[in-house]
Parts: sequence; C-alpha cells; structure tokens
Amino acid sequence: MIEETIEFARNAHKAELHMHLEGALTPELFLKFATRNNKDIPYKTVEEIREKYLFTNLEDFINVYIEGFQSLATTQDYNELFDDYCEHAVSDNVVHTEIFTEAQGVPMIGMELPDMMDACVDGIERWSKKGLEILLIPTFLRHLSEREALESLDLLEPYYKHISAIGLAAVELGHPPNKFKALFAKARELGFKLVAHAGEEGPPEYVWQAIDELGVDRIDHGNRAIEDPVLVARLARDQIPLTMCPLSNLCLCVVDSLEEHQAKRFLDAGVKVTINSDDPAYFGGYINDNFEQIIRAQQLDLSDVEQLITNSLESAFSPA
Ligand code: ADE
Ligand code: ZN
Repeated sequence: MIEETIEFARNAHKAELHMHLEGALTPELFLKFATRNNKDIPYKTVEEIREKYLFTNLEDFINVYIEGFQSLATTQDYNELFDDYCEHAVSDNVVHTEIFTEAQGVPMIGMELPDMMDACVDGIERWSKKGLEILLIPTFLRHLSEREALESLDLLEPYYKHISAIGLAAVELGHPPNKFKALFAKARELGFKLVAHAGEEGPPEYVWQAIDELGVDRIDHGNRAIEDPVLVARLARDQIPLTMCPLSNLCLCVVDSLEEHQAKRFLDAGVKVTINSDDPAYFGGYINDNFEQIIRAQQLDLSDVEQLITNSLESAFSPA
C-alpha cells in the first residue's frame, strides 16, 4: 500500500512553493562555474565538495551555501542553474513552482543584479512554453539591516512586474521577523504577496510575528509552531500554509529523524501543510524524494498525500 501511495505522489501534478534557486546548485555545477569563472576554490572533485555537506544547524549550512553561491558570475551560469532545477521539477511532475532567488546577495558576490534577473525572466518564458508555470520570489537576508533590505527592494524596481512575492531567509535565530516590518509594509503596498522563513530554528514567537506583524500569506517551514497549541489552532483556522521541507529539516538537525517530523501532526490538526525541497542539491533530494521519504517515515496514506498535493496547488500564488 505504501508503494502505491508513493507512486501516486510521484505521478501527481503538484506545485513546489519553497525552493531556493542557489540551493539547486549541484556539486557538478559548482565545479563547472568556479572553473569557468576562474574562482579559486579548495576542491578538485565533486566528491570533495560533497564531503562538506554535513551540517549541524542552519548557520553551518548557510556558510557552505554561500561558498557555492560565490561560484556564480554570469547570466549563462544562472540560465544553466535555472534549467537544471526546472528539468528535475518537470520530471517530478511539478506544474507550478515558486522560486526564491538571492536578489540581495547577488550584488555582494560582485554580480550585476540584471544579469541574474534577466536569466530568471528568460527561464520563466522558456519553461512556460514547456508547461511549467514559474513565479519569482526574491528573498532578503535577515541577518542584515532592514535599511539594506529596503535598498535592495528599490534596486529590483525594473523587475517588479516579474515578481510575485518577497521572502525572508538566512540565519533565523536572533533575527526576528518584526525587524522587517517596514520592508513588508512597503512590499504589501507594492502589491506583492508576502512569505517568511519562521519557526525553522526560531521559536513559535517568530511565527506569531510573521503572521501578526508582517502579515505573511505563507510561512516557510514553521516546524516549531507545533510547540504552541494556540498557534497551531490559528494556522488551521486561517488556513495559513506551511511550506515544509522534510529532507532539509533532517539535514539541518531541525528534527532528529523523519519519524518525528511535524508534518503529520500539523496535517492532523487541519493545518495547510505542503511538501517542498528547499535546497535540493544540498539535502539529498528534489520534491518527489521529499514526498517518498516523509510518506515512508510517517506512514502517510493516500488521503494524507491527496491533501498535501491539493494544499500545494491551493497555496500557490498562481494567476491560474
Ligand atoms: N536559505 C537557503 N536555504 C535556507 C533555509 N533552509 N533556511 C533559511 N534560509 C535559507
Ligand atoms: Zn528555505
């Protein structure tokens, strides 16, 4: 029965709502881009790079992720990265994906913002012709100041028509959502949907802030909301989606095992849970691998999986 449930999940047309483009940088692409761009890196082989992919927490991961990010330099790199992810998405029967990009980080690695954004806009057009609908969500770096985030939002102005939402990511602890109230208010005024990583490592209080002070439309991760029954009831009552990422949570020690992942408890409480890959090249799998492993670990049945798939489609910021 479990095999049939996994097969159903694999074949279902689904939406992916939490995937960082720079987190789709495979070791192969990392080596290729670093070599092509004459970047000095301390690795000669894909295996040496993979050895670094052992993390004890989010900050640990972000450091390795930034190292990979710094190999990117040109529109061509971003085109190839975009295509690599989209090929996986289509093969996993993703019909709609909402891609996070490091819009604020790009100028910091010496790359021009238009070089990255043009590649994304071009990718959206090319892949829409192949039946994959793509929305773009630039993310802001929560360990930096709100002023810097606001400046970065201004720099994106020529691309506003290509942006659906803004997000908040990077190291969470010590950087509560309410540090970014003005940023989110401005983004709302501009007509964007709003999302924020919250409750991945941070306490339930950060999830409350994201909902009540930033007014987000979805919470990215949200694992630790489970610690507060009143918060769980609020998420369920208002049907605020959680974009959960089981393999990421396992790799970053947010949970000790997938058996104890919060997904099933949230589902049973009526919370709108979705399953996503986060940074697929770093965490051992794309969206269907996340489905397979969470189904096995939590013995999810067909109705659980139907609910997860329906949730993904209903939680999309899709014009369709
Ligand atoms: N940036 C890329 N992946 C992330 C994650 N899992 N949490 C926070 N920021 C991220
Ligand atoms: Zn994420």
